[in-house]
Amino acid sequence: MPEWSDKWAAGATYEDFMGRWSRLLAPRFVSWLSVRPTANWLDVGCGTGALADAICTGANPASVVACDPSEPFIEYARRRQVGRRVWFVVAGVGQLPTRPGGFDSVASLLALNFLPKPEAAIDEMRRIAAVNGLVSACVWDYPDRMELLRYFWDSARAVDPSAAELDEGRRFPICRPDALESLFREAGLADVVSDSIDIPTRFSTFAELWKPFLGGTGPAPSYVASRDASQRAALAKRLERSLPREPDGAISLVARAWVVRGVAR
Ligand SMILES: C[S@@+](CC[C@H](N)C(=O)[O-])C[C@H]1O[C@@H](n2cnc3c(N)ncnc32)[C@H](O)[C@@H]1O
Repeated sequence: MPEWSDKWAAGATYEDFMGRWSRLLAPRFVSWLSVRPTANWLDVGCGTGALADAICTGANPASVVACDPSEPFIEYARRRQVGRRVWFVVAGVGQLPTRPGGFDSVASLLALNFLPKPEAAIDEMRRIAAVNGLVSACVWDYPDRMELLRYFWDSARAVDPSAAELDEGRRFPICRPDALESLFREAGLADVVSDSIDIPTRFSTFAELWKPFLGGTGPAPSYVASRDASQRAALAKRLERSLPREPDGAISLVARAWVVRGVAR
């Protein structure tokens, strides 16, 4: 795997590419979790702050600690934060923040599959949760119905067979409900359940869909940045031809996410 493949460095370009879909997904994830008001939350791999913002807006928390190892993302999140009870800190799995008595809810949005050892991450999340605290995660359905990326990687592989090893559908077999449930049960969590959440992703034109792929942050844009101009043009052409169109030329896709939660005992 090339070292650039999962580069998380620029908050604004991440927001243009995937962060805007995280921001639609986060409130739905928070609502599915149904955590009681005045809970103390930890957001693991908070990125530019979509989940922390949704917790503040929709869950009436006592506090939210949101952590990520990417300093530029944490700086970006601090600048645009919506809640007053949120603390953004630079920290990652292996050294997650702790709290006396534990966190009532330890949640992670769209980060679990990017962690080097998801099993160790869930184990650590369980250990820093309060007794009866909720541990949860949400990931895109990369192998199937995260359609924006599915069309992208299918086109990339068609013009460049070596792109197969970078295809997030292939890299992240954990992004299936049965695999997520097993991971949570094996970490010792109780009452494990999973579900799906679908987000509509609509683009008026192909240019609107393609431009965020040119930003260089995240696996797919990093791959695009690694290609020369003619290779990029061939990929864009192939992708444009493969996408379904509505009568007015718009492109309407589904972004499906899998959500899973379990209780720490
Ligand atoms: C796809 S982004 C998701 C960000 C954000 N939660 C969202 O939904 O927009 C993946 C995030 O995982 C973070 N990450 C990578 N390695 C990590 C680690 N070891 N511990 C915690 N977070 C990590 C990255 O810095 C990045 O912000």
